[in-house]
Amino acid sequence: SRFKSAVTIANRTFWLALLAGAGSFYYKDRNPGPQLPHEAGKKNIVVLGSGWGATAFLNALDTTEYNVTVISPRNYFLFTPLLPSVAVGTLSTRSILQPTRYVTRHKTRNVKVIEAEAQSVDVANKTVSFIDNSDIQGSVSSTTLPYDYLVYAVGAETQTFGIPGVQEHACFMKELNDAEKFQRRFLDCLESAAFPGQSEEEIDRLLHMVVVGGGPTGVELSGELHDFLEEDLKSWYPELAGRIKITLVEALPSVLPMFSKRLIDYTMSTFKESKIDIMTQTMVKEIKERSVTLAMPDKSISEMPCGMVVWAAGNRNRKITQDLMAQLPADQTNKRGITIDESMQMKGTNGSIFALGDCTASSHAPTAQVASQQGAYLARAFAQRAKRDALQTQVTDLENTLAMTLHDDTQKQVKEEAESARRALAKFKIRPFTYSHQGTLAYIGSDKAIADLPLLNGSLASGGVLTYYFWRSAYLSTLFSLRNRTLVATDWVRTKIFGRFYALFA
Ligand code: FAD
Ligand code: NAI
Repeated sequence: SRFKSAVTIANRTFWLALLAGAGSFYYKDRNPGPQLPHEAGKKNIVVLGSGWGATAFLNALDTTEYNVTVISPRNYFLFTPLLPSVAVGTLSTRSILQPTRYVTRHKTRNVKVIEAEAQSVDVANKTVSFIDNSDIQGSVSSTTLPYDYLVYAVGAETQTFGIPGVQEHACFMKELNDAEKFQRRFLDCLESAAFPGQSEEEIDRLLHMVVVGGGPTGVELSGELHDFLEEDLKSWYPELAGRIKITLVEALPSVLPMFSKRLIDYTMSTFKESKIDIMTQTMVKEIKERSVTLAMPDKSISEMPCGMVVWAAGNRNRKITQDLMAQLPADQTNKRGITIDESMQMKGTNGSIFALGDCTASSHAPTAQVASQQGAYLARAFAQRAKRDALQTQVTDLENTLAMTLHDDTQKQVKEEAESARRALAKFKIRPFTYSHQGTLAYIGSDKAIADLPLLNGSLASGGVLTYYFWRSAYLSTLFSLRNRTLVATDWVRTKIFGRFYALFA
């Protein structure tokens, strides 16, 4: 009985400790405490963007030695891999967002967060000009800020190749408002098709969804759309469900070129079973209000009627990035994006601008995985830089002391100290960035996912329902915070029980 009561006490102590730990975590999370103010004499870092690269940077940065300001038109981080799930209502919008201030308010030194769009960077004068382009503005809506270091992580925008009608008639799938616009248009197509007296031909047009681009964005969205039709629309719009058609148009000979051949074939066959039409070697030439114009594999031109078009044809640089590169014509010649060195410094800027993520042209694919590793690396490099700056100050101070007339013994001691600090400074090297690839995953609908995972001597290609559970757990664990994880997991359960439809009316 003594043993039993010891076990009971140990058990209770364990649960009490767990509860106290959770309570203290929760309290600290809600009440992070006071922060140091910005300090004159500290270097000013301006961060442009609040996406994968910028957020990973802010998350890992030690702000003790820097005054940091973040400027971004959106004051939150968006978990892009789950955006297609938001578009069809599997997840709610709020579940995949995390306010930027959540990150910054936990920092040692206050980080200023400014919701604004940077308009231009002046490389020579080291300044950024930005505007408040939100609906509500105060009396000041544009200003300029100086920087010592600029962390440039503005991402990319969707490539349109100047194809007529894309901006006017298509939906994109890059930002939160794209997913919301998609929801509105999709519901409109359904309701217009259900309108009394609609002709058969018009119903078929309205219920034809065209996705342009067979990269991972287009494939994942087609898969999610298929799930929505199968699991929800059949019971909500039984008279229309059987007539809805999804077509994925891709200019290249196959979809998902970054995946292994086996997984490409698996995706193609899954789409075939799901009745998603894939048109490869077919290029969209124009988008009209009610149709898309296609250049077919045999070079003929065809007109395909449709209710809505989602455009997912890749990335291009933002105008601000093009303007920034144009200031350094000798160093910035790559049309794909900003040229950086192995420590993320933008070539030609003498170490004052660091660029990362989708706005750069490097040997890595423009993915969240790359941007977040670059952001975390850069934060570590800034910690090293702070140490180097401290050494530099020490050397300067010691040299100034030496210049004064000193007692012989003191002179000798200061000389030795200065020499040792100089040696340490000369040895100081900031380690270059190295990328560690964790694998490529994509959801393809029907509770199936594909994964190309690196193994010791090669890679493991896997596809199916098990991979789908792996996909879910991988993204659940990568989500930004416990709040995001809880909301996403709850949304998955909510969708299983009540379906997706209600989320579209939120
Ligand atoms: P972003 O994350 O796009 O962030 C750019 C930031 O800059 C944003 O906050 C934006 O508001 C801000 N900004 C824009 N203009 C300005 C301006 N003028 N001034 C200041 N700030 C500005 N990658 C993966 O690895 N795995 C996936 O599963 C995956 N799924 C994806 C699904 C979708 C639907 C999409 C669209 C992309 C997906 N990606 C995925 C790619 C990934 O999202 C990008 O590679 C990643 O977002 C790049 O990070 P970034 O920081 O460079 O840019
Ligand atoms: P993408 O560049 O990967 O694919 C775009 C596709 O559109 C290309 O295959 C291109 O041939 C096609 N295309 C372009 N113009 C066309 C036209 N006029 N007609 C028909 N087809 C046309 O773009 P995506 O999918 O937006 O991805 C962008 C980046 O984000 C990629 O680097 C990708 O790896 C990453 N990403 C990764 C995901 C993942 O890992 N699961 C998910 C989504 C994006």
